[in-house]
Amino acid sequence: MKKILIINGPNLNLLGKREPEIYGSQTFEEYFQSLQAIFPDIELHYFQSNHEGALIDKIHEVGFSFDGIVLNAGAYTHTSVAIADALSGVKTPAIEVHISNVHAREAFRHHSYLSSRCKGVIVGLGLKGYELAIKAFL
Ligand code: DQA
Repeated sequence: MKKILIINGPNLNLLGKREPEIYGSQTFEEYFQSLQAIFPDIELHYFQSNHEGALIDKIHEVGFSFDGIVLNAGAYTHTSVAIADALSGVKTPAIEVHISNVHAREAFRHHSYLSSRCKGVIVGLGLKGYELAIKAFL
């Protein structure tokens, strides 16, 4: 059975409540349950943290045994050389996901430190992006 981990970074614990006009009104916990129903043959895990180091620790923890990481690092996408280095340091491939179309938003969201370390990038397709990233790993 393939093992895939979804990692959500800072403020994504507020999905459903946070700027619903941008991020939608569904909580990630609800959406995660629907993902588990879509992919019954995958061992799907979910981790969220608002702390950069905790995200790095998690990448290290799964990065030599899991088949894929679906990573929405939130605002750390645009700032974190350390998360980029963590992705380079492990074997498990990652796909970067953003719920909103970061390229249609403020200029500071246009650059990602992580994209060059990822197998692919999915932006602007809402929560559906996580499902598409998982499909890409299969
Ligand atoms: C985000 C986009 C980021 O710019 C922002 O800081 C987030 C969410 C997205 O999923 O659209 O927290 O990663």
